[in-house]
Amino acid sequence: MYKQTSTSRTILVTGATEGIGYPTARRFVDDGATVYLHAPDQDSGEQAMTRLVKDGAEPLRLFLVVADFTCLNEVACLGDALAAKLPALDVLINNAAVAAPERRTCTPDGVELTFQVNYLAPYLLTTKLMPRLASAGGKVINVSSMTHRGATIKWKKLAGDQYWPLAAYAQSKLALTMYTKSLADVGGAAFTALSVHPGVFESRLLPVYGRVGQPAEEAAPILTTLGSPAYPVANGGYYEGLNLAKPAALVENARARMRLAKLSADLVRSALH
Ligand SMILES: NC(=O)c1ccc[n+]([C@@H]2O[C@H](COP(=O)([O-])OP(=O)(O)OC[C@H]3O[C@@H](n4cnc5c(N)ncnc54)[C@H](OP(=O)(O)O)[C@@H]3O)[C@@H](O)[C@H]2O)c1
Repeated sequence: MYKQTSTSRTILVTGATEGIGYPTARRFVDDGATVYLHAPDQDSGEQAMTRLVKDGAEPLRLFLVVADFTCLNEVACLGDALAAKLPALDVLINNAAVAAPERRTCTPDGVELTFQVNYLAPYLLTTKLMPRLASAGGKVINVSSMTHRGATIKWKKLAGDQYWPLAAYAQSKLALTMYTKSLADVGGAAFTALSVHPGVFESRLLPVYGRVGQPAEEAAPILTTLGSPAYPVANGGYYEGLNLAKPAALVENARARMRLAKLSADLVRSALH
């Protein structure tokens, strides 16, 4: 069995099998942290773990955790298990996400899929892990997207009558960015939260942008720097790369954030009932 060293920082990177998450997990391990690598299923997780170790990552500081974010019960179980196991969590990187499917799709929990995977699941996971983040005086890094700036929240139906994949993706990132600001209020001085558009990087998700990106490895230093205790960040802030930036107006709207908090709690309660 792996034994966690008591001195190293503990980091959870969601969606670390591919794209931006994989080199970020790798870089944290190389920096001496104990890393919990999250995957949606055991197979893709084990493949990523094998690849990381083959690439030279230290296996004694690498742990695999699995939860499919299309199932909120799996997310809740993962959050409970980690909260029971870890005395403290230094950094939670909510990175896992999907590009919105071509057609409106609901999860078995009855929620529009993009909204659930990209926002509601990280919301639930973070809620479960808040006491451990507080024990560490940790950081939550929500990987957002600058597409959130052009988004709205369709409060009543989430995907609305008309469904556009890019709008669904942007809506999920707007919700995540709004939540980050609310987290800063909840966490107070106990932990710090920020959201970040890391840049545009080659990945399976990139077709959403219709753009050519940088190699995904180049995102890792941005996320590890933001996660460093030595790098001061604005609590609740939205970053583009390493720079504080202006988020969508709705992020600054306290009433809208309260409405999102209520919607999120209602959706989670009805899914886990
Ligand atoms: N790439 C860009 O240019 C860009 C720009 C701005 C923001 N972002 C954001 O950066 C983050 C990483 O994206 P990426 O570009 O690296 O995409 P990616 O290569 O597609 O990686 C997404 C990760 O999320 C995991 N995932 C997918 N569906 C999941 C589910 N149902 N449950 C749990 N995990 C799931 C994937 O696991 P499997 O591979 O095993 O399915 C993978 O590890 C996302 O939040 C994205 O919105 C990316």
